[in-house]
Amino acid sequence: MRATVDRAGLDPQGRLPKVQIRRIRKGDLSKVKDVLEQSFGDFLERQLGTRPRQAFNGAQYVHHRWLMEPWGCFVAEEDGSKIVGAALAVTWGTLGLLGPVAVLTHYHNQTIAQQLMRAAQDFFEENKATLHGAVTYPTSAKHLALYHKFGYKPKSLTAVMSRALERGTARPALPKPVVKGALTVRRFSGLEETKKKAALTRFHRITNGVCRGLELAKEVEIVDGLALGDTLLLERGAELVGFAIYHAPGVSEAPTGSLYVKYLAIDPRQRKVEHLEQLVSAIEDLAQEQGLARVILPVYLRYWLAYSTLVKCGYQVDFTMVRMQKGKPEDYEDPADLVLDDWR
Ligand SMILES: CC(C)(COP(=O)(O)OP(=O)(O)OC[C@H]1O[C@@H](n2cnc3c(N)ncnc32)[C@H](O)[C@@H]1OP(=O)(O)O)[C@@H](O)C(=O)NCCC(=O)NCCS
Repeated sequence: MRATVDRAGLDPQGRLPKVQIRRIRKGDLSKVKDVLEQSFGDFLERQLGTRPRQAFNGAQYVHHRWLMEPWGCFVAEEDGSKIVGAALAVTWGTLGLLGPVAVLTHYHNQTIAQQLMRAAQDFFEENKATLHGAVTYPTSAKHLALYHKFGYKPKSLTAVMSRALERGTARPALPKPVVKGALTVRRFSGLEETKKKAALTRFHRITNGVCRGLELAKEVEIVDGLALGDTLLLERGAELVGFAIYHAPGVSEAPTGSLYVKYLAIDPRQRKVEHLEQLVSAIEDLAQEQGLARVILPVYLRYWLAYSTLVKCGYQVDFTMVRMQKGKPEDYEDPADLVLDDWR
């Protein structure tokens, strides 16, 4: 059945229902997941003409994000009983990321998304996020209008790229260091607790070099704590050259059968294409070792050298979305930075 937008949210007298915005509670989690999947499923069905079997191909967003940032996760609830919309937000240091935002189709155009976005905005302000970001569908007039109301401007495209891995012979297992020249790869999960703390400080030094105030520690820790995947450290001796946070399929943001990189950065002071190539190659080894058929790498196209490198490594664009942004710094990206970051 094709999705339609109507006013089923109105009561029999034609009055607007009483919808309240509140923070997500533990008991809401599976309902919120359903609301996201239904709303995005309807949207994609309207766009594509056919309904995808799963809106996110098995990727999940709600449970771990709520554990990571409970104060940034909101629902819209009708009459204190029915969840009709949700918005998740997280801060990466001074960067506030909004999304996904979703409202059940029958409740569209009743300002519910705007109320959810206002709650997320307040959360960003309370947490002193100076730059706010999201990604959205560049072909949708409604989405552009909605973000425009909140002061977001469209920036460049984000390309979600992937490469199918050939089934080959077994590769050496990590965490045994994969020696590539003088570089080694280690897993964050294998470090002692005190070393983990030191690693987080080293990651921060890199992200702060990419964008002042950017901090990914929460993402690294939730991936480690819930075993959603792991974080790879690319090192030369005692020096950290780069790191990559990845999710493996299960209850993470990785779609079924794919290893997915949420964030990757090469230290801007050691910006060499070979470093990105070697980290990507280590990620592919890992995916093969786990019997996964595909690696998914998101890249913001302002990072043109990173995009070009992925093309050279055989990655193809699966789809693109547009980055929406407000606040300062407006344009911090250096096109030569070797960064892969997903704001979904
Ligand atoms: C995007 C989404 C969250 C919006 O939810 P919503 O509750 O309908 O949004 P709101 O009612 O708060 O605001 C929509 C605004 O866009 C306006 N609008 C709708 N269609 C429009 C169009 N074609 N052109 C311009 N503006 C449009 C509405 O009039 C409204 O503004 P108004 O209140 O000033 O009249 C909802 O459509 C949804 O869940 N979509 C599927 C999931 C999705 O795409 N999520 C966002 C991913 S970034």
